[in-house]
Amino acid sequence: MKFISILVLISFHFTSEIKSSNILVFVPSPWKSHIVSFQPLFLELAHRGHNVTVVSKFFVKNPPVNYTQIVPKYELDFESVTDIVLQESNKYLFFFEELYMRNLIGINITETYVSSPEVQKFIKEDQTKFDLVIIESFFQDCTVALGHKYGAPVISIIPVAPWVTVSRHAANPSDFSYIKDFKLNAGISIDFQYRLLNTLFGLYGLFIEPITYIPLFEKLMDTYFQYPGYETRPMMTEMLENISLSLIDSDIAILSPRPYVPNFIEIPGIHIKPVKKLSKTLQNFMDTANTGVVYISFGTILNMARLPKHSLKVLVNVLGRLEQKVLFKWTNNDTQGFPDNFYVDSWFPQLEILRHPNCKLFITHGGIHGIMETIDAGIPFIGFPVFGDQFQNLLISQENGFGIMSNIHTLNEETFERDVKLILTETRFTENAKKMSAIFHDRPMSALDTAVYWVEYVIRHKGAHHLRTAAVKLKWYQYLLIDVILFIITTLLLIIYICYFITKCIMRSILKLFIKQKTD
Ligand SMILES: *[C@@H]1O[C@H](CO)[C@@H](O)[C@H](O)[C@H]1NC(C)=O
Ligand SMILES: *[C@@H]1O[C@H](CO)[C@@H](O)[C@H](O)[C@H]1NC(C)=O
Ligand SMILES: *[C@@H]1O[C@H](CO)[C@@H](O)[C@H](O)[C@H]1NC(C)=O
Ligand SMILES: *[C@@H]1O[C@H](CO)[C@@H](O)[C@H](O)[C@H]1NC(C)=O
Ligand SMILES: *[C@@H]1O[C@H](CO)[C@@H](O)[C@H](O)[C@H]1NC(C)=O
Repeated sequence: MKFISILVLISFHFTSEIKSSNILVFVPSPWKSHIVSFQPLFLELAHRGHNVTVVSKFFVKNPPVNYTQIVPKYELDFESVTDIVLQESNKYLFFFEELYMRNLIGINITETYVSSPEVQKFIKEDQTKFDLVIIESFFQDCTVALGHKYGAPVISIIPVAPWVTVSRHAANPSDFSYIKDFKLNAGISIDFQYRLLNTLFGLYGLFIEPITYIPLFEKLMDTYFQYPGYETRPMMTEMLENISLSLIDSDIAILSPRPYVPNFIEIPGIHIKPVKKLSKTLQNFMDTANTGVVYISFGTILNMARLPKHSLKVLVNVLGRLEQKVLFKWTNNDTQGFPDNFYVDSWFPQLEILRHPNCKLFITHGGIHGIMETIDAGIPFIGFPVFGDQFQNLLISQENGFGIMSNIHTLNEETFERDVKLILTETRFTENAKKMSAIFHDRPMSALDTAVYWVEYVIRHKGAHHLRTAAVKLKWYQYLLIDVILFIITTLLLIIYICYFITKCIMRSILKLFIKQKTD
């Protein structure tokens, strides 16, 4: 009884303090999968009585009350970028490709959307009083300025496992020995070669980015974030260090375990919702697939029609020979010429398909959400990584034993057919997938509830700056204890020298005494 009244008191205390807050979600980027995966959080905040304003290219139809959407209209041609990585197969170039991505593409893409008229109008003219600003941390650091504009705490959403660039400001642990950069293309274990590369990535993030990447974004911020009072703004780095909380779309079931500072919270897969009904034709197609269904999709950014012609032919030929039915995501018009066991469409309800009991295999590019949905449903995979974190996601999942990572550039019918048959016949892949699924679902509180709790926590505690560790204020040489190590080494050397000096003096006196005695 007492317990219940305490509970009531606590919940009353919580809800009474944050009745309805004005929350700004400023995520105008073109990264659809990032935004869509966090959208359930924005919607849930509105459902729980907050006034939510979302600046995003990806709007929801029939939004709840108090959910205002501002939709920037800008065009970005991703195909020129994906074409480069689709044709390129030099694995040694990935380090340079990465620097290119971070510096050029990140800044160029950010400039494209922050300069769009709708975003500019919002930055310059919006007068609303916001209690909280949510931004995205993915090569768009300058958006943190809106926290200053509204004098509000900032929460960042991080769509992949945090790498040094986003960990740096919160002093989140990034030990190069085992916490890998998402672009390292490494599995769970890392040998010397990977530790070396990881250290280079890390040192780049720690020491080179602050003098190359950060000033470019600072300039972008000064050009495009000119709201009244922007002149008094602190430096971008200072504002980044002031971010209250980061919500991370990652999980130990997907990537290897690692420590976080208290204001980094994992909320994996909040986009995974209860299953909706499949369309009648699709439901019928899946229900009648007695030998199972193979589902193949390469996500929203990659157009399958732009795969190398040879690889596409291998995929179609091998899957066409299967006794299983095949769901094939294809955005081009020319659907003629596909085998009889294919069902071709430009979009599929992925979650519902994977959770259908007849789904036996998912062929994917290894995007983090595809992997999460595979794990959620407990379905084995064959993965063809193309860019970003896909190599890492697939390698780790392969080590977790529920799928096979392959290579789209060196694909041939023989090996692909062998891999498909292996997964369809050997039960260990499905067993491991089910095991991972159980781990993924075993949580004290759903990921969505966790996310809402922490957002409201930040509002309740006016930015919750007490969560930040003292390390945020340390200089890098203090954090790495270089000063302490130097002090200890110097002291040791001094002691050794003093000992040496004293010993020398004593020896000399003894010797003198000895010589004196002898001559006497
Ligand atoms: C909408 O917002 C207003 C003011 O913030 C609040 O009073 C009202 O309860 C909200 N409505 C709903 C349905 O949440
Ligand atoms: C809710 O948000 C909208 C859109 O930003 C804003 O116009 C309105 O003033 C807000 N409501 C309240 C009660 O602050
Ligand atoms: C981004 O790069 C493309 C190609 O180099 C260029 O045409 C475009 O103007 C750039 N966009 C911005 C906003 O700088
Ligand atoms: C840090 O954030 C708080 C709001 O949570 C704000 O009042 C303060 O001015 C910010 N400081 C800096 C240096 O940005
Ligand atoms: C698809 O078909 C429409 C008209 O039927 C045509 O205008 C369009 O160019 C086609 N798109 C592709 C990618 O072939």
